[in-house]
Amino acid sequence: MLDNKEDVFILAIESSCDETAAAVVKNGREVLSNIIYSQIALHTVYGGVVPEIASRKHIEKINQVIEQALIEADKKLEDMTAIAVTYGPGLVGALLVGVSAAKAISFASGIPLVGVHHIEGHICANYIENKELEPPFVCLVVSGGHSHLVVVKAYGEYEIIGRTRDDAAGEAFDKVARAIGLGYPGGPKIDKVSKEGNPEAVHFPRAKVVGAEYDFSFSGLKSAVLNYLNSCEMKGEKINTADVAASFQKAVIDVLVEHSIRGVKESGLDKFAIAGGVASNSSLREALEKECRERGIRFYHPSLALCTDNAAMIGAAGYYEYKKGVRHGFDLNAVPNLKLGERMG
Ligand code: KG4
Ligand code: ZN
Repeated sequence: MLDNKEDVFILAIESSCDETAAAVVKNGREVLSNIIYSQIALHTVYGGVVPEIASRKHIEKINQVIEQALIEADKKLEDMTAIAVTYGPGLVGALLVGVSAAKAISFASGIPLVGVHHIEGHICANYIENKELEPPFVCLVVSGGHSHLVVVKAYGEYEIIGRTRDDAAGEAFDKVARAIGLGYPGGPKIDKVSKEGNPEAVHFPRAKVVGAEYDFSFSGLKSAVLNYLNSCEMKGEKINTADVAASFQKAVIDVLVEHSIRGVKESGLDKFAIAGGVASNSSLREALEKECRERGIRFYHPSLALCTDNAAMIGAAGYYEYKKGVRHGFDLNAVPNLKLGERMG
């Protein structure tokens, strides 16, 4: 499509964890480029993300990734309407690299700066491939650091109806994967090995939080898996890794599905979306697809590459923030524990 004067081009930057990413997004929903340098291989040897290594690698890669995003989009920096950057939540040193790069580019070019909440980015990933999706809808956000059930009331307006009390869903996947010897990152490995296992082989608990029916708690489940592994070891019984993985995964999915469907029903809405790294889990997607189909709920999800961290989603979120008039000054800082719906400046 030809560009016209009203078009909004966002140069988006993401560096909150272990992906150095930049993208160019047109009018919030059209991705012209989406460059991701993944550091996963670098952290795998340590069994998890090492913050100091992540920050250093971001510094090495950030300019290269930004340049490549512009080249692939066939755009120049001067063509950009705004620069959007993740400023929280995430690892402080990692976030600072993206925020500093965005501020420097904005200062040198005069292009406005828009700070973006990482989780809002995950939610907005749904707008990219589902052109007809508009708020209001319910969204389950499940990533390495977050598990939230959210009502997206309008663009950039969120009501959190459920949250995790302890571990995030992705964190539980990563910890259990380490315990059963699958290594990092745990989510995709458990997803894969579970296909060979029996999800009914071991019964693990489905935790409920009394008085907060949409909240999640995954640390008890993680302990139950560890206890099961210990007791097998003590009895000299051989562990079937695929069965344990599949049974653990089923316990997580049952809770996520149950809370989500109840949340959608009680919200009176008929649209439901998922977001975040765990949203790429194949069994979770299948289970939600089925439940939504049976109940006449329209189900939306990003493609696999847009579930895990990327900058295209930051460009989508940045667009709606820009349209609302959000602009940040050069005092924009990294906020490692930024809450959803909380904004700086
Ligand atoms: O959204 P994300 O890329 O980063 C954060 O913002 O945290 O999510 C990463 C998390 C990790 O915990 C990873 O194990 C999990 O998402 N994950 C998965 C799958 N792919 C990634 N969990 C379950 N199944 C998957 N296929
Ligand atoms: Zn993320």
